[in-house]
Amino acid sequence: MITIEKLQKFYGARQVLHDISMHVKEGEIFGIVGHSGAGKSTVLRCMNGLEPYQGGKVLVNGVEVSSLDGIRLRTLQRGMGMIFQNFNLMMRKNVFDNVAFPLRLWGEEGIDARVNELLDLVGLTNRARQRVQSLSGGQKQRVGIARALALNPPILLCDEATSALDPKTTMSILDLLDDINRSLRLTIVMVTHQMEVVKRLCHSLLMLDRGKMVAMGNTAELFLSPTREMRKMVTDEFAVIPGGVNIRLMFPKAISLDCVITRMARSLDIDFSIVGGKLERYLDDVFGFLIINVPKEQKERVFDYLEREHLYWQELDLMEEEADNE
Ligand SMILES: Nc1ncnc2c1ncn2[C@@H]1O[C@H](COP(=O)(O)OP(=O)(O)OP(=O)(O)O)[C@@H](O)[C@H]1O
Ligand SMILES: [Mg+2]
Repeated sequence: MITIEKLQKFYGARQVLHDISMHVKEGEIFGIVGHSGAGKSTVLRCMNGLEPYQGGKVLVNGVEVSSLDGIRLRTLQRGMGMIFQNFNLMMRKNVFDNVAFPLRLWGEEGIDARVNELLDLVGLTNRARQRVQSLSGGQKQRVGIARALALNPPILLCDEATSALDPKTTMSILDLLDDINRSLRLTIVMVTHQMEVVKRLCHSLLMLDRGKMVAMGNTAELFLSPTREMRKMVTDEFAVIPGGVNIRLMFPKAISLDCVITRMARSLDIDFSIVGGKLERYLDDVFGFLIINVPKEQKERVFDYLEREHLYWQELDLMEEEADNE
C-alpha cells in the first residue's frame, strides 16, 4: 500500500533521512519508532506530501507522492487521516463541530448521521455538545480519531498519538486503534518513541536512529532476534552482570519461564544466575524473556543446549565501550 525506497531528505545542507526503505501492507498497523530527532515525523510528512524530498521514492498505491499537486495531492491527503500528540483540535468548539469540520470542508452530505456514527465508534456519543477543552486527554484523542476518520480514509497516520497520555489512557487509545484497524480494515502508520506501543500494536515496524534505518520488518521476528544495531536501541531493564557470559533467551509463552530454567539446570548440571525474566506481549502473542549469566568455560555447552532446544537466544555484550563512542 505504501512503499518507500531509499528516501533522502535534506533540510538545507543537512541530511535528516538517509536511504530509508519500508513497506506498509494494506490493513496492517505499521510502527515507526526511534528517539527524538530520528526523523520519524519527517518520514510521515513525506508520505502525505507535506514535505518534499530530494531522493528516492514514496509510493502510495503505486503513485509517486512528489509527482502530485493541486487536486490530486489533496485527494491523496483526504485518503490519509491524521492524529497528533497535541490533538490539534478546536478547543473552544464542541465535539460535534470538531468531527463535522472535515465533512463541512469537503461539502459532504448527511453530516449529522455520519458524526453520530463516528462518535459511537470512539465511544463519545454522550459528549457531542461538550466543548473539547473540558475533555480529558484520552477523550480529546478520541475526538481526534473520529475527525481523522470522518472522510473514510483507507489510511490513518498517527504522530505520537499517545505520548501525552498516562499509561492507562494510552492502553485504551491503543485498544481503540486496534479495534478500528480490525473492524474497518484500516491501514495505520504509527510514529512513536515508545517501544511498548510498537510491541503492543504494530505488526511491522521501521526503527530509525538519527535519520538511518536500524531495522525494518515483522515486529515479533525483529524483537525475537534483534540485530546488534537494534540491540543498542532496545535496552533491557535488567543490568547485565559483568564477568561470565550473559545470555538472553526468548521463547513462546507455551513454554513457561520456570520450565525453561529447571530443565536447563537439570540437563546441564551447571550453576547459572538469573539476571531477570519477564513476559512481554506482542500483539496477541506473549513471549517470555530470560537473561542468565553462565561461567565462561560453560558457554559452548549452554549454546549447544539452547540450539538443541530450539530456543531463540543471544549472547549479550556489555555495551559501555560503544556508548562512550557516541
Ligand atoms: N522544518 C525543519 N527545518 C529544519 N530541520 C528540521 C525541520 N523539521 C525537522 N528538522 C530536523 O530533522 C530531524 C528529524 O526531525 P523529526 O521531527 O522528523 O524527528 P522525530 O523523530 O519526529 O523527533 P520527535 O520524536 O522529537 O518528534 C531533526 O534533527 C530535526 O531537528
Ligand atoms: Mg516527531
